Amino acid sequence: MSRSTAQADLLDALDERLGARGLIRDPGSMARYLSDWAGDRLGLPLAVARPASTAEVAETVRLCHAHGVPMTPQGGHSGLVAGALPAADGGELVISLERLDAIRQIDVVNFTMTVDAGCILETIKQSAADHDCDFPLSLGAQGSCQIGGNIATNAGGLNVLRHGMMRQLVLGLEVVLPDGRVWDGLTALHKDNRGYALAQLFLGSEGTLGIVTGAVLRLSPRATQSRTALLGLSSVDAVIALYGRARRECSDLLSAFELIPRRCLALAMEASPELSDPLDTAHPWYVLMEVSASGTLDLDRMLEQLLERGMEDDLVCNGVLASSETQAARLWQFRESMLEGQRRRGEHLRTDISVPISALSAFVAQASLAIHERSPDCEIIVYGHVGDGNLHVNILPPPGLAEAQKKAHLHDLETRLFEIVDQFGGSLSAEHGIGRTKQAAYLARLSPVERELVEGIKALFDPAGLMNPGRILPDASRHL
Ligand code: FAD
Ligand code: LAC
Ligand code: ZN
Repeated sequence: MSRSTAQADLLDALDERLGARGLIRDPGSMARYLSDWAGDRLGLPLAVARPASTAEVAETVRLCHAHGVPMTPQGGHSGLVAGALPAADGGELVISLERLDAIRQIDVVNFTMTVDAGCILETIKQSAADHDCDFPLSLGAQGSCQIGGNIATNAGGLNVLRHGMMRQLVLGLEVVLPDGRVWDGLTALHKDNRGYALAQLFLGSEGTLGIVTGAVLRLSPRATQSRTALLGLSSVDAVIALYGRARRECSDLLSAFELIPRRCLALAMEASPELSDPLDTAHPWYVLMEVSASGTLDLDRMLEQLLERGMEDDLVCNGVLASSETQAARLWQFRESMLEGQRRRGEHLRTDISVPISALSAFVAQASLAIHERSPDCEIIVYGHVGDGNLHVNILPPPGLAEAQKKAHLHDLETRLFEIVDQFGGSLSAEHGIGRTKQAAYLARLSPVERELVEGIKALFDPAGLMNPGRILPDASRHL
């Protein structure tokens, strides 16, 4: 059967199974499935399937498998490594999870919630709060990303230092495998050591091993009080020293500790003109930190003491402790708006590296030097999750650089940055995954043994190579 006949047969079969709401064939109606948040590139799908149940996802995948048509699982389009973008050749069927959006069950005694994969993270957090619980994954895209996308990318975010990454927040999964079989691993057990941890293989698999359709999530008791502070500091060394104290002196209640450079405050104010400088003095570095607890502890006293001692010892130069929830939300708005401020600068290099926390300061100094040696006029923006040793080292290209040279220049700077990451024994992806954009750098660092194991896992789950081909690993098969 020719490629076009197989595609046409598939679309007819899907039309029949999914109905008008379940399949978009008209290119004019596909706009929001072609690009992601960054908007740097466009894909072109064969069509967009919008199944409304696990059974419909399974049927869609079974038909794709039977016709040899590759598939792209799609969540909320907020991924940052082009993993959910369909290929530009019009050959992949996008399978959007957006209609699988039910909260299936909440068990407040077991502290678990069972959800469809297409639930928006914000909705899950709100449902947990409505039941006096907390689902602690928090990130800037929470109003649009889906829990299935969070699982597929093993998302991190602002509260990892206290609650772990997505990997620690999932107890069970339901997955449609690349040939259409359904694996029901929806266990709600907090302890379960029966053999290999199959569910964990899908955490961070970026849609290459199957389509997550449901999950059992681990909840926490809802924090009844939280305090936020924004502090001005003079160096990354001071930030790291303060972090060590905060970990020790806040009784494990530290729930966020974010590094923000002065430049990012300016970008945030540019993107959200209603924001104004939160401190009356300017500082090269800021820390946005939060402590939270359920119970009756005196968080104000705890934080005040930490900051007083920090000031006495010249670690903290200035700071503000939010006195209301509204003021705290305003401080967190800086963290959110600074991303929009960067996005408005157009195409730039985004990274999400990690090194040991103890090496963060030396890493920032060495990486900045190495990049500026290659590109004196580029702008380096370093911010991120201090408690996870995870920094976003983003690079805006030098002003005036011709469009045609931009990509190559940014790639060259990324290569140099990753060399420094290697010197520190770090990771070139701590949060966002490999997708397409980090693939070459990832593969270049795999040992032969690792490569064999990784390819073996892919081949076991997806021998036909039809599930999100070309993400993480190169597309090994020629389809149709
Ligand atoms: P998509 O972008 O739709 O897809 C991402 C990948 O998952 C793709 O490979 C896709 O094929 C696959 N996929 C999606 N759904 C499924 C499914 N049901 N089954 C199998 N595979 C699937 N990330 C962090 O880790 N920490 C942050 O702090 C953070 N902050 C962000 C802030 C902003 C403003 C933005 C735009 C992004 C941020 N991200 C962050 C990245 C992004 O939000 C996460 O990667 C998120 O988990 C992606 O979810 P999504 O539903 O948007 O997935
Ligand atoms: C952040 C995302 C981009 O931390 O990971 O802002
Ligand atoms: Zn991040």
